[in-house]
Parts: sequence; C-alpha cells; structure tokens
Amino acid sequence: MNWWEGEFLRVKNNQLYLEGHPAEQLAKKYGTPLYVYSRNEVLRNLRSLREAFSPAPAELEVRVAYAMKANPHPGILKTLLKEGCWIDAVSPVEVETALKAGFPENRIMFTGTSISQEDFERVLKHPGVTINIDAYEQVDLLEAARKKLRIKRPVRISVRWNPGLGRGFCSKTVTAGDRSSDGTPIKFGVEDSRVLDTFRRLKRLGFKPVGLHQHLGSGWTEEDFPVAIKAVDRMVNKARELKRAGFGLEFLDFGGGFGPRYRQEQRPFPLPEYAAYILDRVETAKLGLKAIVVEPGKHLLAGAGVVLVRVEYTKQSYGNLFACVNAGTYNTVPRPAIYEEAYHEIVNASRVNGSKKEKVTIAGHLCETGDVFGAERLLPVPKRGDILAVLMSGAYCRSMASNFNLRAIPREILL
Ligand code: LLP
Repeated sequence: MNWWEGEFLRVKNNQLYLEGHPAEQLAKKYGTPLYVYSRNEVLRNLRSLREAFSPAPAELEVRVAYAMKANPHPGILKTLLKEGCWIDAVSPVEVETALKAGFPENRIMFTGTSISQEDFERVLKHPGVTINIDAYEQVDLLEAARKKLRIKRPVRISVRWNPGLGRGFCSKTVTAGDRSSDGTPIKFGVEDSRVLDTFRRLKRLGFKPVGLHQHLGSGWTEEDFPVAIKAVDRMVNKARELKRAGFGLEFLDFGGGFGPRYRQEQRPFPLPEYAAYILDRVETAKLGLKAIVVEPGKHLLAGAGVVLVRVEYTKQSYGNLFACVNAGTYNTVPRPAIYEEAYHEIVNASRVNGSKKEKVTIAGHLCETGDVFGAERLLPVPKRGDILAVLMSGAYCRSMASNFNLRAIPREILL
C-alpha cells in the first residue's frame, strides 16, 4: 500500500480511485485539468480534529473556525456550516462569501492585516461579526468606520497578538516572531508590550473585547511541536495578565498551522498531544473562558483535494525526461512554484504501480522554468494521454491560482 492511500485515495487494478471513482473516468467526464475534492475526506479530517479536543470539559466550547482562505468552494463552506464550524475570514469579500453560504454573523471572525477604513466599514455592516484587531493603530480606523456608520451596539473585538515566536514550513509562512527565518520583518499582530494598552483603548472607546488570538504560521510537522506548545504557554500567561487587569475573556484563539503530511518522510504534527496540552493549560489557569478556538485550513482541506492533469507528450532533453502536461502550476497548484520547500506527491493515475519506473520531471505549460509540479520523480514512465494526480491540492491551490499566460483556472468538482 502506498503511504498516501486511505479512504479517499485507493489503488485498484493499478488505477487510482477517488472516493470510489476511477480518476481516468472523472478526467474523461469532466475534462482536465480538474480539481477534485472529497466532502467525506473533509468530514473525516474534521472528525479527527474534534476527536483530539474531545477531552474538553462540557462547559468549554471548542470552536473550529475554518480558515476559508484555504479553499472557499461554496460546497465546502456549506458542509462545514452544517457541521457547526465558524469561519476565519481575512477580507471583506471572504466575510460576504461566508454570509452568502449561510454562516450567521455570530459565527464569523474577521482577521485583517493592512486594513483600510473602507474594509472596516464593509465588515461593520454586519455588526455581529467579531473583528480581530491586528495592530494598535488599526483601532483609529475601526473607530472612524464605526462613527461613520453610527453603530451604537458594542462590537465584539478580539486582539491578534504576536507572541514573539512562530513556526511554518518555510520562511514565507511564519507569521509570528520579530523576523522570519529569512530575515523578513513579520507584519502580523500586536507586540507583547502593547497588548494591554490595545485592550484598554478598545474598552475606553466602547468596544467589547472578547478574545485573544495568535497564529504562528502554516504547515507544522512533528518538529514544530515544542515551539507550538511554548506559544500555548505564552498565550495562557497573557490571558492571565489580561484577567488580572480586568479583561476576563470569552475565548482564546490558537490559530491554525497544524499538519498535514505532504511527504512520506514527514513526521506528522501530534495533534492529540497539542490539544491535550492546550486543554490542560487552559484548565489549570482558571481563566473562566467560554470557548477555545482553532482555525484549521490545511488540516481540513489539503488532503481532501487532488488535481488531475493529462500528459500530452514526453520529452527527452540533455538526459532529462519530461512529462509535459496540459496545466501550469500557477493556474492549478501554485505552491511548488511559489515556495521552494513545497512538495506535492504526484501519482500516475493510469498506471500507479507500473514496473517501468524512471525519473520524470512533470512540466507545466507556462513560460517559466519554475513551472514544474515535481522534478525528477521516480514514476512509472508516463505515456501520452495518461492522467497524473497531484495530491494534497485541496488547500491553497485553487484559492491562489492565477490566469498567468491567460491560461484558464480549471473547473472544480466536489464528490
Ligand atoms: N488563521 C490565520 C489567521 C491564518 O492566517 C491562517 C493561514 C490560518 C488560520 C490557517 O492556517 P493553516 O491551518 O491552513 O496552516 N499559502 C500558504 C499558507 C498560508 C497560510 C496563511 N494563513 C501555503 O500554501 O502553504
């Protein structure tokens, strides 16, 4: 059995099946390139997350706020709505899209960076939405927006703080600390020394501070566990300090970032241990919280999607063997083109365990050298018309796709 096989992806007679449908048949019926998502896999991923937090005491609600930036497909939003999830939205359009999908205002939190007054006005038109402030300085814009709209009822506010440490699978996805691993200054969150002042100012202005939020980064594996739990300690200590200063909170939001497994050799992030750690620290600290929140994107969606592409021809050049496919990375699975560290397993769905294997570079149809889905992968040698499946493409693929070279962004189906 291949390491990536499970209930969603299975191999039968040397062919790849997606939730029981042969990949080749889906490719023929809907055309390629094609995004294929599995509702059941999303639900299974949600279940594993809820199981990890199941030791929570009855009086503590565990909110799962889906980071819809990972994949805002309406069918996925509707599925997660029915499951009682919240939404982590990062732009006014994401807020409006969540509302359109049926999420009530009081199950949406808006977390914006470099936000304009107009952005706040658009979000404040839905006054039940919780607003997560990213900067002390944002309060001025928020106040101006509230005055302009003459909103009288207290708006629910959370503060995103930067706990001074972060982790991500690459420098571009570390979102806390002073600088990322490549030296880039980190723009997110309110620094430690200004958190209390931000709460005081919000209260003075008549806002209703209800939560504290942090998000360390994206794509954690087992190695990231020690930092992740250190950040939990910092968050709980901060909440204690706030409580002493008169700010008893409704919730602590620990953000997303955990998992999933993109490569065989990757050791998965120990989610049950992380959940147990959070629950233990929160209980010991007696903060009087009503809820804790996590904001998964990748955990729920990455493994619930694949992209099917078709091999147009193979090409030999200077000793390199290429499989030239009818899609480009930027238009379908942009992650490997954007992040050097991003890896997506590629499977020849037409002959999964074919015995004649060679090192193949899967090349896209865009005019850029970096437009390769995977370089020198040991694969059953593809033939013209073979269908290749790019795995782990349910999160941050369609949502980051572009029309570079005026190539189309493919169709999506939800099984
Ligand atoms: N909460 C906040 C405030 C976030 O900014 C993010 C992701 C999440 C939650 C969800 O993180 P996740 O559980 O999905 O790791 N484009 C990158 C990922 C960027 C994630 C940005 N923020 C990638 O393709 O790897």
